[in-house]
Amino acid sequence: MGPQGVRHSSDVEVGGKKIVLAVSGGIAAYKSVHVARSMTQLGADVRVVMTRSAERFVGDQTFAGVTGNAVAKDLFGDGPDAPHVELARGADLALVAPATANSIARMAAGLADDLLAATLLTVQCPIVIAPAMHAEMWAHPATAANLATLAGRGVIQVGPNSGPLMSGDTGMGRMAEPHEIVAAALDAIGHAQDLSGRRVVVTAGGTQEPIDPVRFIGNRSSGLMGFAIAHEAARRGAKVTLVTGPNTLIQPPGIEVVDVHTADEMRDAVLNGAADADVIVKAAAVADFKPVDHADKKLKKAEGPPEITLEPTPDILAELGAHPELRKPGSVLVGFAAETVEDVDQLKALARHKLEAKGADMIVANEVGTHDSGFGVRTNRAVIATADGVVDVGLVSKEALAAALVDRVVAFLALRA
Ligand code: CTP
Repeated sequence: MGPQGVRHSSDVEVGGKKIVLAVSGGIAAYKSVHVARSMTQLGADVRVVMTRSAERFVGDQTFAGVTGNAVAKDLFGDGPDAPHVELARGADLALVAPATANSIARMAAGLADDLLAATLLTVQCPIVIAPAMHAEMWAHPATAANLATLAGRGVIQVGPNSGPLMSGDTGMGRMAEPHEIVAAALDAIGHAQDLSGRRVVVTAGGTQEPIDPVRFIGNRSSGLMGFAIAHEAARRGAKVTLVTGPNTLIQPPGIEVVDVHTADEMRDAVLNGAADADVIVKAAAVADFKPVDHADKKLKKAEGPPEITLEPTPDILAELGAHPELRKPGSVLVGFAAETVEDVDQLKALARHKLEAKGADMIVANEVGTHDSGFGVRTNRAVIATADGVVDVGLVSKEALAAALVDRVVAFLALRA
């Protein structure tokens, strides 16, 4: 564990893990040599399987020299076990880098027409793919559909990035850098399935309360924090429902998404899932007030400034806190607190106050309105309050904060089991 209980990839125990590195034919194959070397240096037992076309880009002797293991290429061997079975058995992770458009299509179709494809169809472990292809192939709807199919099966994708491509063009399709691929691999290995069999409801984004058909009262929430929590919970084995306000984020794979606009719609969706949920995380920035009436037709400027009378929206978190009968017995209720503060002590005090006021098991209070914390940025400065006290998490990525939050949720669930 890193400082303040936030997990870092260096905490992941790689020694002795069996990693199948599947290399398909693309110029980026040379970068996979670095991936193989890094994973081997971390103590993993790296078994490389290459397609015939991959050999046009990098020699098998290079991978054998770096990993200390012979490279597998043939679907048929002399041993008692078929090579794909031998490779797949006991594997902790399969890493497909580069994952060409062709190998992605073959995976999506479930083909087993060479050793790489057969191995990927046999492995029982997490699969991480690092796509690499020309920008046109990347943009093709067939590729998008294949990736969506794989994502639906839980395949984790890293990259691609935008940058110079073999064709001489610049665009999307450049394979992620080796350090990014290694980080994704460590992440995939390191994720315990400690929410397996649990149902988690997460809310994300801001609500929009209509004034007329084209205008609303809203806030700057992007949904990034809630999406990161949903993603983290799903990776750790939970069945996740993400109730989200309007956002521009990519739909997380393997997660049921319920799109809502208003606080009332969010309340309905959350209460709908509450009775079966082991965990409810209210990361959404819910509007506190809504117009009493909204116009059916667009308000016209010539009519002058409108008088908008506001009324409170339902406080979903407080309602769930005050009415445990709405929730599954033993479930964990987590709220957020978005605060503008002078210092961390004030943030802690507000977290403690909201923990009490909302009847939650845990409040994550984060600073808003600064350039590096709160709405629309990738990091948060946060504290986590429970009945046991308040922990300062510091300034971390939203993904790291999500992991810290889920770690504590798992501890709560274990205590209540
Ligand atoms: N929340 C909610 N329903 C509302 C308002 C807030 O469920 N109508 C939840 C949020 O999702 C969050 C928590 O309550 O988990 C705290 O939200 P926040 O906006 O920080 O606090 P408020 O209760 O709105 O209080 P204030 O704005 O005065 O700080």
